[in-house]
Amino acid sequence: MKKIPISFVINGKKKEMAISPNITLLELLRDHLGLTGTKKGCEAGECGACTVLMNGKAVNSCIVLAPQINGKSIQTIEGLGIESSLHPLQRAFVEKGAVQCGFCTPGMLMSLKALHDESPHANQDDIKRSISGNLCRCTGYQQIVEAAEVAFKRRN
Ligand code: FES
Ligand code: FES
Repeated sequence: MKKIPISFVINGKKKEMAISPNITLLELLRDHLGLTGTKKGCEAGECGACTVLMNGKAVNSCIVLAPQINGKSIQTIEGLGIESSLHPLQRAFVEKGAVQCGFCTPGMLMSLKALHDESPHANQDDIKRSISGNLCRCTGYQQIVEAAEVAFKRRN
């Protein structure tokens, strides 16, 4: 298939490349950019493991076609924080034991990051709603919600 040129910003850096028009954003991230922090789960928009931010909004990257990101800004878990400088949400996840197997964690964090940026005064219901599309098989969600509340309170 003929490749098409796209230009976008990924974790703050401008990138131009030629891609097959039929690949998903998830495939672009993992298979072409080496950003494997974004997880591949259901590949059907159901589990939230692949959540990234597109122009600040949380999207399931498995159901976004890569050409759709042309001219847009994408943030993945690799752009959130690093070990020596964790994002407040990451720090709270560690403190509250909100990570078990970790498979859902990047997607959870990106969904919460969108809320954290958009709604500084979000309450517990807002937090629960923001991760309603993110499945976790391990934690029972309680620790995740508590961690998010801690991070949001610290911010306010
Ligand atoms: S892998 Fe995208 S929603 Fe499950
Ligand atoms: S920590 Fe294992 S799926 Fe959420």
